[in-house]
Amino acid sequence: MSGIGGKVIALTGASSGIGEATAVHLAERGAHVVLGARRKDRLEAVVERITASGGSARGVVVDVTSRDDLARLVGAALEGFGRLDVLVSNAGTMAVSPFDDLRQDDWDAMVATHITGLLNGIGAALPVFRRQRSGQFVNVASTAAYVVKSPQAVYAATKTAVKVLTEGLRQESGPDLRVTLVSPGFTNTEGVGKGGSPEAAAELARQRDEIAMPPSAIASAIAYAIEQPEGIDVSEIVVRPTVQA
Ligand SMILES: NC(=O)c1ccc[n+]([C@@H]2O[C@H](COP(=O)([O-])OP(=O)(O)OC[C@H]3O[C@@H](n4cnc5c(N)ncnc54)[C@H](OP(=O)(O)O)[C@@H]3O)[C@@H](O)[C@H]2O)c1
Repeated sequence: MSGIGGKVIALTGASSGIGEATAVHLAERGAHVVLGARRKDRLEAVVERITASGGSARGVVVDVTSRDDLARLVGAALEGFGRLDVLVSNAGTMAVSPFDDLRQDDWDAMVATHITGLLNGIGAALPVFRRQRSGQFVNVASTAAYVVKSPQAVYAATKTAVKVLTEGLRQESGPDLRVTLVSPGFTNTEGVGKGGSPEAAAELARQRDEIAMPPSAIASAIAYAIEQPEGIDVSEIVVRPTVQA
């Protein structure tokens, strides 16, 4: 199956920002979207927004750090639509801070969300994709996977891990599966710096407000990777505002 219409697409981190914009965009183009995140009210609002305009969406409250939750997300796609064509692993936390602040809970959350969360998605979807002999992983990293800027080392390390895991998965996935890495630069979302040290969060928010691109730029990049014909793997996309150094 090529294109986007009719595809069953599960997406984590769909309650706001890039995930929300991507869910809306893919649903507008005829995909059945199965959306995961922790905040039930925000998730329901996205599902309502899509269904109110005639799209197909359902929400599942998931914490990506839980293996069982990812299995439930994939299970909801299979129960609802009989298959899963794409898993977009987008959930993330940008709680950056200098090492000296010792915000170890934030470090743990970034490791758990970006690395364990991604692996939980692979563990849940890979057997389904193998059985179907088709499927696509779209993993959201960051330009921080390419350039480390203080005080973002832990964030950058976990996003570098996303890049490495995605490339390794791609090498093992052929010939039936597709694996795509999408790395955004500064994007205008509520998540930029959220939960990080106050100084780091304020600085990131300042830069975001100055240079960020809209989340629709990333939604389009994800859609481009998904809409390619079977057998064509868009392996890596980096999208940043032109003014981002
Ligand atoms: N904005 C940027 O400048 C930028 C740049 C590069 C990369 N990115 C990446 O893009 C992705 C989306 O971020 P965003 O900018 O759209 O920020 P956002 O609006 O804060 O979105 C993050 C999403 O992840 C979800 N999430 C966080 N932890 C989760 C968990 N443990 N389990 C399930 N869902 C979880 C959040 O929902 P709940 O809180 O409801 O669970 C939310 O839906 C992230 O991976 C981020 O690192 C963003």
